[in-house]
Amino acid sequence: MTDFPSFPPGFVFGAATASYQIEGAVQEDGRGPSIWDTYSHTPGLVANGDTGDVACDHYHRYPQDVALLRELGVDSYRFSIAWPRIVPEGTGPVNPKGLDFYSRLVDELLAAGIEPAATLYHWDLPQALEDGGGWRVRETAERFAEYAAVVAGHLGDRVPRWITLNEPWCSAFLGYSVGRHAPGAREGRGALAAAHHLLVGHGLAVRALRATGVREVGVTLNLDHNLPATDSPTDRAAVTRADTQHNLVWTEPILAGRYPATEEETWGELITGQDFRRDGDLELISQPLDFLGVNYYRPTVVADAPYRESDPAQRVATDNRYAEVPMPGVRRTAMGWAVAPHTFTALLMGLKERYGDALPPLHITENGSAEDDEVSPDGAVHDSDRVAYLRDHLTALRTAMDAGVDVRGYYVWSLLDNFEWAFGYGKRFGIVRVDYATQRRTPKDSYHWYRSMIAAQRR
Ligand code: NOJ
Repeated sequence: MTDFPSFPPGFVFGAATASYQIEGAVQEDGRGPSIWDTYSHTPGLVANGDTGDVACDHYHRYPQDVALLRELGVDSYRFSIAWPRIVPEGTGPVNPKGLDFYSRLVDELLAAGIEPAATLYHWDLPQALEDGGGWRVRETAERFAEYAAVVAGHLGDRVPRWITLNEPWCSAFLGYSVGRHAPGAREGRGALAAAHHLLVGHGLAVRALRATGVREVGVTLNLDHNLPATDSPTDRAAVTRADTQHNLVWTEPILAGRYPATEEETWGELITGQDFRRDGDLELISQPLDFLGVNYYRPTVVADAPYRESDPAQRVATDNRYAEVPMPGVRRTAMGWAVAPHTFTALLMGLKERYGDALPPLHITENGSAEDDEVSPDGAVHDSDRVAYLRDHLTALRTAMDAGVDVRGYYVWSLLDNFEWAFGYGKRFGIVRVDYATQRRTPKDSYHWYRSMIAAQRR
């Protein structure tokens, strides 16, 4: 086939998942409760009352899922480790059965010739730590580093690639400002404190991982490509505030060792006199990384807007005087997300432009689409929209590489249909369909396409 984009030798192709979204078995083998158990069991918060109690039952079916990965021909599999399986109370005793599960998974992957890539935090914070303040308090960052040391001490010889945090924007701002993710808080300074402590947790975990001698350490960010609704100075200023909240709050400390210059115009009095920042934090946060993980799905168009809450004391951290407006003339996925692959190229090139040689090599740790899949009478899923999405984003990625952006790998989100957080099981991102009633897995057309695309690189 000639229409496959082609990638340099050694480029890593992978697929990604996350613990709470696929594992189920939430009460097994000593796992403690996480903030997502609490959140999903609170009536009204997750669509359809869905929870991760069973999910894809991957905890029991991982050999079958690894076989699907092997058949797909991926080089690497990105999964996450559930902190509450390892340290059920967030602090104190380590649960050997939790470590055993990931050890078996890693061995199964290695036996299939697949490199494991482990994410340490994909949002399932032990509930006990949230009860003590969660990411609002520095202790959580310290507990995170202890947990990282335990896991890397156990698996570090077999897992070459480590990701400290997945999408800390979601943890800090969806979790503590918008309230659409666990723990469901709507705060101002609390969310900014959470953002800072996630960064500190990342820095402390990098140090802990380095101490165990693991090969590659990085962090995964969901970077937004924000476009102004019009060319007006006010809409362009809105883009600056959106960029600050979504991107610069992470990339500036991590890649440049400084806080964003635009934080005051974004957060006003919420950001002044922050007592949670300490001397030495920026050095800790900006330790060199082997790669930066980027998750990319869609562009955002923003327009200037008034504060949603006029009383400053009531303002949440994401109330930054801008509003998202629809991008005209593009297809939307089942999430309602605009499909505009050229913005993926632009995002990556912008990153390279801003950080130059300070930008580590990139891995695209997630990219994919939720579609309204239908099962055909023959049992197949002809998800041509997803195939087009993947093909066009891989092509856009290749364009950025041709323009000089150093990208080493790409992980499709997701191997399996799974628990899409507050949207529950209604939104399907998998290249493999999961029938939740039977737990039957059916590879979709996109799985077959991705498999052929990977095979074509090796010819
Ligand atoms: C990013 C998150 O890391 C993942 O958990 C989620 O399912 C996908 N985006 C799709 O929304």
